[in-house]
Amino acid sequence: MKVQGVVRPPGDKSISHRAVMLAALARGTSEITGLLTGDDVKSSARVLRGLGADISTVREGATVKVHVSRFTSPVSRLHCGNSGTTARLMLGILAGQPFAATLTGDASLRRRPMRRVTEPLRAMGADIEEKGGDALPLTIRGGRLRALTYTTPVASAQIKSALLLAGLTGNVGVTIREPYRSRDHTERLFVHLGLGLHERAGAIVYEPSGRPVVPSFRLSIPGDASSAAFLVAAAVLAEGGELVIENVGVNPTRTGFLVVLERMGAHVERVNLRDEGGEPVADLVTRPAALRGTEVSAAEVPTLVDEVPVLAVLASRASEGSETVFREVGELRLKESNRLELIAANLRAVGVEAEARCNDLFVCGTTRRPTGRIDTARDHRLAMAFAVLGTVPGAEVRLSERASVAISYPQFFRDLKRIRETGQGKRET
Ligand code: S3P
Repeated sequence: MKVQGVVRPPGDKSISHRAVMLAALARGTSEITGLLTGDDVKSSARVLRGLGADISTVREGATVKVHVSRFTSPVSRLHCGNSGTTARLMLGILAGQPFAATLTGDASLRRRPMRRVTEPLRAMGADIEEKGGDALPLTIRGGRLRALTYTTPVASAQIKSALLLAGLTGNVGVTIREPYRSRDHTERLFVHLGLGLHERAGAIVYEPSGRPVVPSFRLSIPGDASSAAFLVAAAVLAEGGELVIENVGVNPTRTGFLVVLERMGAHVERVNLRDEGGEPVADLVTRPAALRGTEVSAAEVPTLVDEVPVLAVLASRASEGSETVFREVGELRLKESNRLELIAANLRAVGVEAEARCNDLFVCGTTRRPTGRIDTARDHRLAMAFAVLGTVPGAEVRLSERASVAISYPQFFRDLKRIRETGQGKRET
């Protein structure tokens, strides 16, 4: 297979959630272009509408307008769908609201831990009632909060962002330390909007100055580095050609996969570097490469946490017998599926030596053609990672389903086909 052409990944999922939430907290009407149309962002929009936000339809190519006079107590449960980011960040926002709201989600989300967010929010003064242990559904009654200084037990941007949003809506100071730096989109947006955020002695500090007013804004969302990673991987595994992936967010807290790929022997060029709303953006030029195994350290994991499935797939195509190890990736058990076990089990299902041992993941490279059936567990990133493996010449990789890609990359299969089949990725206008 050869790749060729120009392709644009969809809007960044993490920035899209934060943009629509901050727009809903802003005074006046905000306008967002390039917002991801994936189901997760629609979940955030639905939850905000349930609180009285006026949000225009989230659809491909549309500028989304967000306006709220004030949040009102919801009449029914707020459904976060499959989206952990919606649930956890909204808990932070609701902690500062003087009414009760119940959050719930789909079966996958209802299995994911929430105390990592609710415990520090309780320490700030939020009243949170569990219905069934450390998971959704939860009822939160916000109101008067107090300042918090907190060290997160894991490097999680969702925890950090929930606490910063609680500080903003509750008008109290928040100081956060994390074991390793997680994605910093919330911090960048706060700074972009002039919302009293800075770094002090390695801590992230939010300090309100008087009654905080979030100004309305216009924002253009860059393409999602995590979605681009699948296209990069397809190009690296190709037999020839060159792929240009336009308008990709290259925030260093998100691009660990490019650093790891470099060590594995694949160089991805960044051209046309620019700034978009406080975020670095570039076009990526990717070519096929011969890969070797590497070690991914615990410190690197937060910068590539969503790329482990696709990096593991690439590691399986490294030179015969060369091993890749991902250290301390236990957090992957707590994603949309038990990704750690499923990456290993699915690689084995297509004839690759792979194992999850304690919190580490080991993958052995092979040149054998991958053949077998993949259980995606309806996890979008597993579906896309193994679809990329299916592009290897002679591969016979069958996915249990493909619909889950709608969570973060609705046009994934169209784009994957376009860059391979016609060699004419379409430049969107
Ligand atoms: C996200 C943070 C990460 C990531 C998720 C999106 C965010 O989760 O895996 O896809 O937008 O803040 P954790 O905070 O649980 O690491």
